[in-house]
Amino acid sequence: AVAGARAARAAAAAMSVFVTRRIPAEGLQLLSQASGCRVRQWDSEEPVPRAELLAGVAGTRGLLCLLSDRIDREVLDAAGPDLKVVSTLSVGFDHLALDEIKKRGIRVGYTPDVLTDATAELSVALLLSACRRLPEAAEQVKSGGWTTWKPLWMCGYGLSDSTVGIIGLGRIGQAVARRLKPFGVRKFLYTGSGPKPESAAEFGAEFVPLTRLAEESDFVVVTCALTPATQGMCNKDFFGRMKKTSVFVNTSRGAVVNQEDLYEALAHGQIAAAGLDVTTPEPLPTDHPLLSLKNCVILPHIGSATYATRSTMAVLAANNLLAGLRGEPMPHELKL
Ligand code: NDP
Ligand code: DGY
Repeated sequence: AVAGARAARAAAAAMSVFVTRRIPAEGLQLLSQASGCRVRQWDSEEPVPRAELLAGVAGTRGLLCLLSDRIDREVLDAAGPDLKVVSTLSVGFDHLALDEIKKRGIRVGYTPDVLTDATAELSVALLLSACRRLPEAAEQVKSGGWTTWKPLWMCGYGLSDSTVGIIGLGRIGQAVARRLKPFGVRKFLYTGSGPKPESAAEFGAEFVPLTRLAEESDFVVVTCALTPATQGMCNKDFFGRMKKTSVFVNTSRGAVVNQEDLYEALAHGQIAAAGLDVTTPEPLPTDHPLLSLKNCVILPHIGSATYATRSTMAVLAANNLLAGLRGEPMPHELKL
C-alpha cells in the first residue's frame, strides 16, 4: 500500500503544471482533463506578479507561460530540478533564457504556423491604417474637422506600384508579402541572415542588405524574430536612409526598433508614418512621446488576436506541454 501511494504521488508530481495566466478554455480543459495532470494556475487576465510566478513554479514539472513572463535563471532555480517542459503560448521565444533552459535539459514548446495568418492580416491592416491615416481621419469625423470634401486633405500613400521591404522573410513575412502582392506592389525586397531563394521566388523578392532595403522601400515591414542581431536594428541610421514618403510597420518585437530614433524620424518628417503593434515597454505609457504623433498608429500587441487563433494557440501550447511531460514528440518543439 505504501509503495502504491508513493507511486501515485510520483505520478501526480510527474504531471504537475503551472499555467501563468487565464488562457482560452479549450487549452486549459486539455490540461485539467489529462489523466494525472495536476494544474495550478494564475487565473487572471493580468500578468502573474513575479513573486507569485516564483512560488507557482516551485516543484512543478511543466510550465505554460506567456510572452510577458520572463523565464530566466531565477525562475528556473525557483522551479527546481523537476521542471521538464516549458510551453509558451507564442511563436516568439525571446522571453526565454534558452541557454539556461538547454543546460538543464528542459524541453520547449511554442506555437508557430497557427498564428501566421492572423498576424499577417493584422500587419496589413496596420500598414493600411498608417499609410492611409485611418485613425487620424476617423478622429476628424468625430471632432468636426470634416467640413467638406477637400482635394488636398487627408492624403496618404498607396501600395500600387510600390516597393515593399520585408525584414525577416519567415512564416509571417511571407504571409504578409502574399497578402500585399495583389495590391499592385511592383517590387519586394527582403533581408535576413541569408538569401532564401525558395521562399522569395513566389514574390520575386530580392535579398538586399538592410541599408539598401531602407533606401529603396516605400513600405518597410518588420517581421523578424528578436535576437541579439536584430535588437535596435531599426535605428537613426536606418530611418535616416528611408525616404521621406515611406511608411514603417513593426509587428515583430518592440526592441527591434530604437524608439527614440523612430520618434525623431516621425516628428521631423524624415519618414511619413509608422504603424507599431509592438513597443518597448508593453504597455506603452500613455504619456509616451510616440503617442503624441498623428503619423504613428500604435496597437496593443494584437497580431494574433482572433478568437480562433488564440484558441488554437492554447490547444497547441497545452498539447506541447502534455507531450513533453509524457516524453513524447511535441506537436511543435523548439529545437535547442
Ligand atoms: P520565423 O522564424 O518564421 O521568421 C523569423 C524571421 O526572422 C526569419 O525569416 C529570419 O530570417 C528573420 N531574422 C533572423 N535574424 C534576422 C536578422 N538579423 N535580420 C533580419 N531578419 C532576421 O518566425 P515567424 O514569422 O513565425 O514570427 C516572427 C516573429 O514575429 C516572432 O518571433 C514574434 O516575435 C513576432 N510575432 C508577433 C506577433 C504579434 O502579435 N505582433 C504574433 C506572432 C509573432 P532568416 O531565416 O534569414 O534568419
Ligand atoms: C507571439 O506569438 O510571439 C506573439 O507576439 C503573440 O501571439
